[in-house]
Amino acid sequence: MSSDKSALTKKYKLLIQKINHHNKMYHTYDSPEISDIEYDKLYSELKIFEELNPNLIAKESPTNRVGSKLLSGFSKIKHTRPMLSLSNAATYEDFSSFYIRTTKDLKNNSFILSAEPKFDGLAISITYINGYYESAVTRGDGYIGEDVTSNVKTIKTLPLILEGENIPSKLSLKAEIYMSLNDFKKLNNALSHNEEKTFANPRNVAAGTIRQLDPNVASQRNLKIFFHGLIDDDTFSDLSHSDSLNRLKSYGLPVCNLNKKILNIKEAKKYYDHLNKIRLSLPYEIDGIVFKVDSYEQQEILGSTSKAPKWAIAYKFKSIEEKTKLLGVTFQVGRTGTITPVAELDPVNIGGVKVCRASLHNMDEINRKDIRINDIVFVKRAGDVIPDIDRVSLSDRVKSVKIIAPKNCPACDSPLIKISMQSIYRCNNNYKCKPQIIQSIMHFASRKAMNISGLGESIIESLVDKKLINNFVDLYKLTLTHIKSLDRMAEKSSDKLIRSISDSKNTTFDKFIFSLGIKEVGITTAESLAQNYHSVEDLMSASQAELCSINDIGEIVAENIHNYFRNKKNQNKINNLIKLGINISFTRTVIDNKLSGNIYVITGTFKNISRADIESALNKHGAKVTNSVSKKTTALILGANPGSKHKKAKNYNINIISEDDLIKLL
Ligand code: IVH
Repeated sequence: MSSDKSALTKKYKLLIQKINHHNKMYHTYDSPEISDIEYDKLYSELKIFEELNPNLIAKESPTNRVGSKLLSGFSKIKHTRPMLSLSNAATYEDFSSFYIRTTKDLKNNSFILSAEPKFDGLAISITYINGYYESAVTRGDGYIGEDVTSNVKTIKTLPLILEGENIPSKLSLKAEIYMSLNDFKKLNNALSHNEEKTFANPRNVAAGTIRQLDPNVASQRNLKIFFHGLIDDDTFSDLSHSDSLNRLKSYGLPVCNLNKKILNIKEAKKYYDHLNKIRLSLPYEIDGIVFKVDSYEQQEILGSTSKAPKWAIAYKFKSIEEKTKLLGVTFQVGRTGTITPVAELDPVNIGGVKVCRASLHNMDEINRKDIRINDIVFVKRAGDVIPDIDRVSLSDRVKSVKIIAPKNCPACDSPLIKISMQSIYRCNNNYKCKPQIIQSIMHFASRKAMNISGLGESIIESLVDKKLINNFVDLYKLTLTHIKSLDRMAEKSSDKLIRSISDSKNTTFDKFIFSLGIKEVGITTAESLAQNYHSVEDLMSASQAELCSINDIGEIVAENIHNYFRNKKNQNKINNLIKLGINISFTRTVIDNKLSGNIYVITGTFKNISRADIESALNKHGAKVTNSVSKKTTALILGANPGSKHKKAKNYNINIISEDDLIKLL
């Protein structure tokens, strides 16, 4: 290799090391050392290098995580050693018999236990060869699993290359793949937002994601991994499990930091109680503690049965799942008319919280789980996730009654419309259906919208019942006398409410857009719209195609926005709000309008400024930034390694602005 080339390789490898380090700090330790912008810069530097030097691309490069190929299936792989399961202890008595039996089997010699959480995820076996990630195989039936190497490779907390000293040529490890509760909630919110099926728990997401055929989906799911053991205990010269875990940690592999050495049964109980207490506050789900005899020599003495090792036990937490009776199902009407079935339960205490209701998601979910009224059901609660019916206890089923989707709105009796393949129904009587009226006013008054403090659900309901308001516009017609006429509204609180309604009139454009409650327009979309439009009229007259070309706005959302503003009733509402004195400030981010009317498209990567900063800088001068080049595009802002947009712009003969020109322009 010429010295030029080896210097280049060295620089490249250092760049990879740097990025992998920042990846670990961000994804594994949650403590980033650099900003996202700085990270993006390093990453694009790496991509450019690899495009120019494709023959140098290294296995451990983070660009290698997601292959573009769709998989056609998973091949079956035989485990070198069977992946056993664990014996369970359901009670302290069970655990204590394990402890006594172990003491006896070890001929009263003392022993140390290694305690660690039992992660509620997907079991996996992972192999590194010469320090490089090589393969991942699911547990399967314990003897034969499936090769899921490419999907597991997308897990950002999984190192593609190990760091540190004395790495064995072959390292086969046991691990658990999981999803954090936060990511689980976000994913389900996004799915239900798009009226797609949600997942019942994080474990199902982990398992479903690893077993699907598009590694791109896996790479977007933000799964995580904990390593919890060696497949062959003689891989290292270490004498104990806890030493091996420390060594894995030193290689940069994520190992749970709650692991602890336990010297006696009292300490074991203390550890169990402590984790049981904090489990709901952990960022991931655990369902018990795994106690393992720490010394490999003692593990050997104790041996295994065909199913499970005798040197370990999973002492399970009391379930945060309870059985109760499903008394009935009510159908709730959401803000935009979506109908959600809700289970009415015989009240039951689950992990210290009284639960009377649980979400049933949609009719497909009910049919899939075959849930019927009068059934005895298992209800689960995890963290602050809404309680969920996990399954029906079929052996308890007597006289059950099928749940039937209503044909008419339970609130206003209008016929329901089926809006998707997934048995989701909607009431389209948006302006007259009481729960929709109340919720749209609640949304309008909420903190991120018009922020009318003191206007809660019960006051809104009384105002609607007394026919003092019928929509959010009417709020600005209310007088002190109206409010005082409500039950339990004294002079002082009425006065305060009137004042906060009046104060809310001064708002910003993004909040105003959000408060309208347009289907699927959350605060982020509202912010994008406010960045791109600088008057209410402009926004109201935007075409669907134009809306669709804004970053982050897809076809369905563009259609919702367009339909909303085409509707005469909505147009009147907006005009009336303005007549009643709503004062929208557009000045928040706009410096001047020197680029007003101009539409830009950005492509490629930039040396001194991120794409997001370019976009916001252009917006501040009144310009719009869109996703795709069209005849209307004023200019293409061209960075290094542009995509197809560059070609298209040249075809359309559109002005091209370089990074340097852009800085001058701004
Ligand atoms: S050790 C011989 N440690 O629980 C099996 N397993 O019920 C040794 N699990 O399939 C397993 N957390 O996937 C071990 N800290 C932990 C674990 C753990 C979760 C899973 C594992 C296994 C299942 C057995």
